Order: sequence, then structure tokens, then C-alpha cells
Amino acid sequence: MPACAKILGVLMVVLTLPMPAALAQGPGLDAAGHPWWQHAVFHEIYPRSFADSNNDGVGDLNGISSKLGYLKDLGVDAIWITPCFPSPQVDFGYDVTDYEAIDPMYGTLADFDKLAASARQHHIRIILDFVVNHTSDQHPWFLDSKSSRTSAHRDWYIWRDGKGPQRPPNNWTSTFGTPAWAYDPTTQQYYYHYFYPQQPDLNWRNPAVEKAMLDTTRFWYERGVSGFRLDAVDTLFEDPALKDNPPAPGTDRFGRPATREIYNKKLPEVHTALKALRTVADEYHAVLIGETWTSDVAQLREYYGEQNDELQLPMDLLLNGLPFSASVYRQHVAAVDSAGGWPVYVISNHDITRSYTRYADGRHNDEIAKLMAAFYLTLRGTAIMYYGEEIGMENNDPRSKEEVQDPEGKLGWPLEKGRDGERTPMQWTAGANAGFSSGKPWLPVPASAKTHNVSSEEKNPRSILETYRSLLAMRHHQAALLEGDYFSVNSDDPNVLAYLRRYQDESILVVLNFSNQSQQAKIDVPSSGYISLLSSGATLDNGYRTISLEPFAFYIAKLTK
Ligand code: NOJ
Repeated sequence: MPACAKILGVLMVVLTLPMPAALAQGPGLDAAGHPWWQHAVFHEIYPRSFADSNNDGVGDLNGISSKLGYLKDLGVDAIWITPCFPSPQVDFGYDVTDYEAIDPMYGTLADFDKLAASARQHHIRIILDFVVNHTSDQHPWFLDSKSSRTSAHRDWYIWRDGKGPQRPPNNWTSTFGTPAWAYDPTTQQYYYHYFYPQQPDLNWRNPAVEKAMLDTTRFWYERGVSGFRLDAVDTLFEDPALKDNPPAPGTDRFGRPATREIYNKKLPEVHTALKALRTVADEYHAVLIGETWTSDVAQLREYYGEQNDELQLPMDLLLNGLPFSASVYRQHVAAVDSAGGWPVYVISNHDITRSYTRYADGRHNDEIAKLMAAFYLTLRGTAIMYYGEEIGMENNDPRSKEEVQDPEGKLGWPLEKGRDGERTPMQWTAGANAGFSSGKPWLPVPASAKTHNVSSEEKNPRSILETYRSLLAMRHHQAALLEGDYFSVNSDDPNVLAYLRRYQDESILVVLNFSNQSQQAKIDVPSSGYISLLSSGATLDNGYRTISLEPFAFYIAKLTK
């Protein structure tokens, strides 16, 4: 039986299946017996840039509280707030001076408690960002550590003698463009920092450090936090013999001779630390999300732990670096899906060019943004969105070195422009400062805020925002999208990626045109027709057997028997 001959714009049919909602601070398992984080949609918030309640140009916790209704309507189950702890803000919060307080620029612990209470009412969980590898150089632990070679905290960081005058202990480099060793004249030793010199690495080989960090997680779990995104987990341990990293071909992004970072990254001891963090997390039904940059899927698999006793959600950060291509994505999803862990797909974050800009072709930018959403939000696994992705925010990179705020951009200009471009204020309205603040925002708002903002897009059923809302509502209501397996159906098509999500006797078909040409997709699946759920730029022709797709269109349907 051919069903639904024509699909106009974005159309959605919501079936009335029970919604396995993630209950904030509720039980570890949802109504369907799954850990809550498997079916939750996570939304990353960069607090400096989300909503500014006191109009000082920088976002804050009360600002986030004021937008919980928006997040709930969007279909978000959990927010990950990037570091909001006291910090000199050298790395905009990834340099912490107190892990158990809130930076005054963002509010107070009381504001955090208010946010947590309100989030609970909205059935939204809170995930904090835990900077486990390093502190600020202004943290009391480090101030004590550098005060003398015999101080109580000396061994909380990595201190070593140089090889001689002006000669650091080895050839390791910081990822932000400086040497990885900083000389301290008072105690005449070098300390190690994988990131900025103001971010000394903690010594995770010291049990006191591990204990302090585990206690911090308890502090926040007791306050109602449902988990952590663990920052830079692969950098936690270093080779105690400090062997030089071997040379690699070419140069790094700062133009320095490249090295293979085998002695200061991804050491096996990382897994011991992750297991310890997981043991505490399990006591609270909490989730650990990893910032897991890996070079392949096999490496990603290791972060789940051999007994699935490390990270529940190591992020697949490989996806965002792949060429935009149906064939490449087909291969990648098949690999991640069969790797044995619960997949975690991400297409944007505060360190990489926004997905809208990355995939834009100049002609079909909005269609491409909707297509990418239809793709990663219908895969098996957990999705983590980045604020503003849902309205098609684009990068607004600094045009001159003077404009740059991110020290990485100051150090690396012009080769490396830093990360300001992907961190600009959330675009709420077409008005002044995109409705983010009535004060001067800490980063400039791009001209595209006039068209790509929440208020305008809410009025347009075909907007990127409304497509995200429809996709997320569908995802929450369709058991096959939550539970179903992933089954590729047109494995040879170089332009159109199509797959089924199959659960019990239900199948949902997802068809995605990754080309800039119209395509006629003939999908050979065992069914008598389709019940169209959601589409953009697609029609059914010749009965239901051919799906006509405009450039970058998508079509999602339930199969009938
Ligand atoms: C990864 C974070 O995402 C990034 O923003 C930060 O600069 C580094 N880790 C250092 O903490």
C-alpha cells in the first residue's frame, strides 16, 4: 500500500508511544529499563555566551535558569555547562582555582542551587565540566607547590630539574604553542603544563591528588549534579622517565616541528584513573562523558573500559573531522556502531569550527544544517548538541589579531586564529546584541544573527530550529530510534545514505541526500509502504518506491508491514 504521496516541507507525525523521559535526580534507569543517559539528549552550554542576566556582557547561571523552558521545548534532557568555577579565565574557565565554588562572574553557589532546583522541575539534568588534568597556576595547591621544594603540595604537580641552564627536561610541547615546561626561579625547577603555562598539570600518580579529585565529584553529586564531562582525559599521565617524544613528519598548527606524543598522552594509567572516577559515579547513577580525541574507532572503544567500567559516554570526535560524504559517513557509523559501546555522536563544540560553517557550501547552508541534524540525531546512541547549533549559528572568527580573546589565537596568529569564532553569544532575537545582553557582549555577534535567531526561527516551520524540535520530539517518541539497531540499506549509493532503525516489529527508514544534486533514491526494504514522519525537500514518486530528494534533502518514515 503506497502511503503519503507527497511531503511538503517539514512534516511530522508523532505517534503516542510512552516517552522514556530522563528524570532529573531520579532513578538510574528510565521507564524502559535503560540507564537514563542512553536516551537523553545533551546540550552543551558555554556559560559566558548563553544568556546574560545582569547585562555585564558575560553570560551567567541565572541566565541559564531563565532559558530552561526554551531548552525543554527544544527537547533537551541534560545540559553540560562548561567550567563555571572560580578562575582567572586565562583559558576561559579551564584554569580552575577552586573546584567547589562558582566564579562570581557566573553567580554564586546559591544561584547554582536555584538552577539545579529549576532544572529538576523541568526534568533537565545538569552535567558539569571537570578539568581533571590541570588546575590554574593561581590554585592554592599550586601556589603552595611552587613555594618550596618541600611544600605539602610539591608533589601534586610535575616538577623536574632541567637538563642544564635554559634546557627543559625534554622535548615535549604544549598543545597551545609554547614549550610544555615552565621554569620557576624560586625553586629552580621546571613544571609541566600540556596546556597554557597558567595550567600546570596535576600529578595523578600522587594518591592525594586522586583523592582530592574524587572528593570533588562527590561534592557536586551531593549537590544534585548528574555527571561530568571530563576534560582532556588522555593527558592525565606522563611517562615518569620523561622520554623525548619521537619526531613526526611535518609541522604542527603553530609551525613547529611535529612530534608523536607517545610519552605524554594516552598512557595506560589513564584507565586506572577513569575506573576510580567511575566507581564514585556509579554510587550516584551519574554519567561520565569523555573528551576523547582519538585517531580511530578502536582507540575510542578503549575508553569504555574492558568491563565497561570506565566512561559510559566517550565522545566520538572523529565524526566532525571526516569529509562530508555519504560513503565516508556510512563506513564510519558502521565502525562506531559495531565497536561494542554505546555510541556518542557530536558535530560541534567550543573548540572546533561550528558545524554550520564547516559544512556550508554557500548555497544550501540551511539545508545542510538540517541534513546533518537529521543524520546524527537519528543514529543509535546518545547525541550531544552545542548551543546555537539548533539555529544554525555560524563561526564569527576574529578578523585581526587585536580582536582575539583566546590566547591560543594570540599565540598562533595568523596560522591559528583561536576559538573565539565558535563561542559567540547565543542568538535569541534579531535585536541588539542578539538579545543576549543589553551590555556589550564579550565577543561580537555576527550579522547572521538577524536571520538566525530563536525568535525569528520559531515563527518559521521550516527553519533549522523547528527542524531540530521536530527531530528531537520524534526521537523521544519513537522506540525504534531510541532502542533500534542500525541497519544500512543502500550500501553502494555514493550520494544517498539510508538506513533502518529496527526495534521489535517496527522499522524507521532514514534517507539522507549528501549531494548538491537532486537524487532519486530507490530503497529496497521489506514493507508495503511508508508512514512519513519528517522530511525536508523530499517527495515520494511512482508509488512509494522512489524517494525524490532535492539537494541535501532528508526523508524519515516508518515502514508499514
Ligand atoms: C579541552 C577544552 O575543551 C578546551 O577548551 C581547553 O582549552 C582544554 N581542554 C584545556 O583544558
